[in-house]
Amino acid sequence: MKNQDCSKHAGCGCLKPADEVDVNRRRVLNTVATSLVAPIPFVSSEAFAQPAGMLLVDADAEENFKPLRPSDLVLAKPLLVFPFDAQTGAPKNESRLNKIVLVRLPEDRMTPETLARSASGVLAYSSICPHQFCDVKTWMSKENVLACYCHASKFNLFDGAKVVGGPAPSPLPAIPLKLEGEFLAIAATPQRQGE
Ligand code: FES
Repeated sequence: MKNQDCSKHAGCGCLKPADEVDVNRRRVLNTVATSLVAPIPFVSSEAFAQPAGMLLVDADAEENFKPLRPSDLVLAKPLLVFPFDAQTGAPKNESRLNKIVLVRLPEDRMTPETLARSASGVLAYSSICPHQFCDVKTWMSKENVLACYCHASKFNLFDGAKVVGGPAPSPLPAIPLKLEGEFLAIAATPQRQGE
């Protein structure tokens, strides 16, 4: 099946998402870039403070925010989202530390624990890399892992986002999902793996 995500290679038949095509080049550039800034000593707990029941909206949307359904997710194409504040009709506090990465994956490949946190095959994790806090948003189809483009940490989303490569010291924090009607919603207070 042709992957329609290859926006840089329209018509080429490439099976790789565009993000993956550039990951090696960007890894080099970002390794240089992140080595020039002081490391952040502490990651905020904002990503863990989202109340249960909040719907989710595309982090790149600028207006007309629409809560997401499972069918809005393309298989194995990560999407960065924010929790949606229904009272204001806008994303709740657009700090990047609130950013969540959603990925829809085949349910039959998930461990039972991971499957229990999913909703219609959609998984949610904090998108903030536990290493030096870049956004984690690159799907590598050959290895079936989510990767951080800064220093190439890799996470196995089928099994609790465990680290399977790179310098990340811990898995991505998991955010349990549920369905609110037809929409994806946060199911419970997010947890760091192992808690
Ligand atoms: S910030 Fe270094 S691997 Fe993600």
